[in-house]
Amino acid sequence: MAKKSVEDIEVQGRRVLIRVDFNVPLNINMGAISDDSRIRASLPTIKYLVDHKAKVILCSHLGRPSGKVVEGLRMVPIAKRLSELTGLPVSTASDCMGREVEDKVGALREGEILVLENLRFHAEEEANDAGFASKLASLADVYVNDAFGSAHRAHASTVGVAKHLPAVAGLLMKKELEVMGRLLHDPERPSACVIGGAKVGDKMELLRSMMERVDILLVGGGMAATFLKTQGYEVGCSLVEDDKLGLARRLLQKAEERNVPFLLPVDAVVAEELKAGALTRVVPTTDIPSCSHIADIGPQSIELFCGKLAKCRTVLWNGPMGIFEIPQFAQGTRSLATFLSTLNATTVTGGGSTAEVVQEMGLSGKMTHVSTGGGASLRFLEGATLPGVSVLLDKE
Ligand code: 3PG
Repeated sequence: MAKKSVEDIEVQGRRVLIRVDFNVPLNINMGAISDDSRIRASLPTIKYLVDHKAKVILCSHLGRPSGKVVEGLRMVPIAKRLSELTGLPVSTASDCMGREVEDKVGALREGEILVLENLRFHAEEEANDAGFASKLASLADVYVNDAFGSAHRAHASTVGVAKHLPAVAGLLMKKELEVMGRLLHDPERPSACVIGGAKVGDKMELLRSMMERVDILLVGGGMAATFLKTQGYEVGCSLVEDDKLGLARRLLQKAEERNVPFLLPVDAVVAEELKAGALTRVVPTTDIPSCSHIADIGPQSIELFCGKLAKCRTVLWNGPMGIFEIPQFAQGTRSLATFLSTLNATTVTGGGSTAEVVQEMGLSGKMTHVSTGGGASLRFLEGATLPGVSVLLDKE
């Protein structure tokens, strides 16, 4: 069911509380923002509200301070960056509720922006405490959730507050739900899903969900070792999730029953040590040396995967093909990103480390959509109902 968005309600002159996901990576030593994509992603919603003369109150969490004030996790640098990006003054408060905040909200004029302090400085936020949610809601007339990245969390600012105010989606939330929803329910075909990352356990539900929706599945990354093992191959010292071997076997069987090709890497970059400067070799996955780790997919696998994807009209990519943080093991992930950026198809990349690579390579603009949600996009694509979405008003 489509949700009402900020475009469907009257906002002029009203106090609008926007839950954004400004949980951006920070350079711990310098306190600087190392990737501002999540701030940029909410700019359309913020600009819309400013242009429509709302009184804009932004709230977010930053990091995991566990209910305590952590000086390095204050929202001030975020507000400063937001001000630079919008070209508008942005004020801040030293808490997310209380007298000072009420005064600052009371003084807000149409089109002005206030950023509240980190919500997670209060343990009540993550506990979805009813009193905390009600106090937060009392600051505003309308609630807008633009924090797709936090929509899988049932917290006071993502769920509790919606009990007290008309609750609608922001423009980022709307876009995420539309693009990802289409991917789940109505993808242009043939469609493919490329899944990587270290562990099968983390992606099992995603694989299960995607198997019922796409025409081809491709698996790379560390998790491929567990699948290779179920097929009787030796994988050297690579991490194998022994407790997931049965599940991996059943997934491969299911793919066969459903006639969905399930491709694994045919070659791999291996190394005895997973560190920069290690000696590497490319070997067939049927012949992994006993003391080696699989660190990346090999050149033949890249060619095989890209060849299959070239015929697809929709591609979802979630998870790196190797240990991309170490340049020697990043080729598979980087080649896939480059290839997808040139593909004439709907290309959607899940958040988290996949988004990080695409962003770092400057390819975000060449993908149809780069999700801002890590855990949230995973849950959504698994077919789960996200608590932060279900509380929003239905469009019809
Ligand atoms: C994220 O970065 O995935 C979201 O901001 C949620 O953060 P959390 O995992 O700390 O709840």
